Amino acid sequence: MSDLLSFRHLRKSFGERKLLDLDRFAIGEGEAYVITGDNGSGKTTLLRILAGLEPGEIAGFEFRGVPLTHGRLPENVRHDIVYVHQHPYLFHTSVMHNIAYGLRARGVDVAERGRLVEAAIAWAGVGHLRGVLPAKLSGGEKQRVALARAKVLKPRLFLLDEPTANLDGEARGQAIALIRQMVQDQSSLLIACHDRELIELPGMRRFHLENGKLVEV
Ligand SMILES: Nc1ncnc2c1ncn2[C@@H]1O[C@H](COP(=O)(O)OP(=O)(O)OP(=O)(O)O)[C@@H](O)[C@H]1O
Ligand SMILES: [Mg+2]
Repeated sequence: MSDLLSFRHLRKSFGERKLLDLDRFAIGEGEAYVITGDNGSGKTTLLRILAGLEPGEIAGFEFRGVPLTHGRLPENVRHDIVYVHQHPYLFHTSVMHNIAYGLRARGVDVAERGRLVEAAIAWAGVGHLRGVLPAKLSGGEKQRVALARAKVLKPRLFLLDEPTANLDGEARGQAIALIRQMVQDQSSLLIACHDRELIELPGMRRFHLENGKLVEV
């Protein structure tokens, strides 16, 4: 198994407070990882740093064997890593256009875009919501649209931040089913979460973040 993403050290402080002080960590191609940790332990910050959305000190940072300078990720790497927020922000336009947005921004032609969007809509089970505006969606529906919007871009690495937080019952089950399928399909995943069922999914490697360190559990 080759490493998709790796670093030798990762550090992050907010003022005087040292939040993250991680030693070598690697994400294998096609592997799924879950990171648990108390509220405020730094899970979201870590995911955002890896996505290039937040500054951080990283040494020996590599993606697919290519050394990177954090803060200046090349476009192809930015396209290869998607971060899905715990409370996904959707544009004030239909579900279909939300899912198509990234493809349009990348210049994918209209026919191909239609095909990919329909496949993502079917995967996420949101076909009945195609024309609906985000304000009319439940939390679980928004989360599934956000997963479809990420998946349609075919990134090499998904960073999912508490994808089932604030969901219960059927909505939570549907989100878990999508993620279980992503694990089975050997998508590369790094998931921050507190959800027992997600943590215990087969095929998941489990890490705990405490006092700035990641420890495999
Ligand atoms: N921009 C910022 N400035 C100062 N402190 C920050 C900033 N962003 C995050 N923090 C602090 O860093 C700590 C880690 O936050 P983070 O959101 O990464 O934790 P988390 O593990 O994701 O928590 P949760 O489980 O609640 O989502 C928190 O104490 C937070 O207040
Ligand atoms: Mg968080």
